[in-house]
Amino acid sequence: MKILVVGSGGREHAIAWKLAQSPLCEIVYVAPGNGGTALENKVRNINITEIPQLIAFAQTNKIAFTVVGPEIPLSQGIVDKFKEHNLKIWGPTKFCAQLESSKAFAKDFMVKYKIPTAKYATFDNITTAKEYLKQENIPVVIKADGLAAGKGVLVATTMHEAMAFIDDIFTHNIFGESGNKVVIEEFLDGIEASFIVMIDGNNILPMATSQDHKRLLNDDKGPNTGGMGAYSPAPIISQSLHDRVIDEIIQPVIDGMRNEGHEYTGFLYAGLMIDHDGNPKALEFNCRFGDPETQPILMRLESDFVTLINDGLHKKLNMCEPRWNNEFALGVVIATQGYPTHPRYNDIITGVDTVFNSKVKVFHAGSTLKNDKLYTSGGRVLCVVALDEDLEQAKQKVYNAINKINIDGMQYRTDIAHRAFETL
Ligand code: AMP
Ligand code: GLY
Repeated sequence: MKILVVGSGGREHAIAWKLAQSPLCEIVYVAPGNGGTALENKVRNINITEIPQLIAFAQTNKIAFTVVGPEIPLSQGIVDKFKEHNLKIWGPTKFCAQLESSKAFAKDFMVKYKIPTAKYATFDNITTAKEYLKQENIPVVIKADGLAAGKGVLVATTMHEAMAFIDDIFTHNIFGESGNKVVIEEFLDGIEASFIVMIDGNNILPMATSQDHKRLLNDDKGPNTGGMGAYSPAPIISQSLHDRVIDEIIQPVIDGMRNEGHEYTGFLYAGLMIDHDGNPKALEFNCRFGDPETQPILMRLESDFVTLINDGLHKKLNMCEPRWNNEFALGVVIATQGYPTHPRYNDIITGVDTVFNSKVKVFHAGSTLKNDKLYTSGGRVLCVVALDEDLEQAKQKVYNAINKINIDGMQYRTDIAHRAFETL
């Protein structure tokens, strides 16, 4: 089978790597891919990003199915367009992808279908937004409505900061059209977790549990990023919490979408806040696999990933029982100097090929291969993942590998999985 993966990040490297391991897979094309996918066995990069060209490629090359990694093509309707051409594709339609592409849509949907979430109000002008804000308690959460690569949310700890963000969005237009509306939301206290599932329209197949670290610096300080590291499993998700998340958050998405006349297919990622009494609320939805959660999760997947996606495409996820390695997988992201606000590109990456070990894997994100050398080309460059039955050992393996890697000015956290250490 020939398979196409759309995207260029660490998530897409992990997806392509896992698909390529299947004996059913002849080759995985990644569009456009990165320096890591360029070097991967049975994987080839193709320099295409526009949807019509991707459709033509899939037709000409008899692609068995396409997997979409990132949110932007999903929000542009790549799934609808492939389906119009009778091409098999794994992901949600443009309508369903609004759960991620519009925070206002997602919040209204959650309220309509009784999915627990923070109280909120939506505004499309600065005056009413500021009037409302004055009545709110601090901390307060402000979210640009549209896609903003994980940077459109501020947890404001002073009223001054909150007002300044409203100015940035409406007056200085820092998010362009994504800031045409804002959601102002009650601050929820608790512990965050990522809950990722596959949905085939009817059936839910939960992926292994995981937890992301969104802040740039140790101790969850500094600005929000796309994610600086993740580990799986996440001990905070007990079996009873798992069941509640399915019943109270995931199943209502499927039922609600059906009620709106749409079928949800593809990955669904619920960003959760678990309060101090153990109750889950949905902070956000992403209509795709998480990045960097995908990297440690797929490191633990022992079942054939091609079969899982194929079963999803044939609405047979109820027949699947994926096997997960019992060990911990811990992944640490290496970012460039200046990330997330002013990432520097084009630095040389060395030492990646010294990390040879079946239980350690370096997934690439913002890297490019030029004349057999690797250069940085994105803010988050690599995600180093290790497996071990002991979490501390997994962590040691990751940092031993990172010590061999060099990028001028590289940044990474040294406390990934700290919450698991606290829980275990
Ligand atoms: P989102 O993109 O909506 O998940 O927001 C990004 C990050 O902001 C989340 O991962 C949380 O750390 C934080 N956040 C978002 N909404 C809230 C909230 N209502 N209360 C507390 N923190 C939040
Ligand atoms: N790790 C967070 C995300 O994928 O959005």
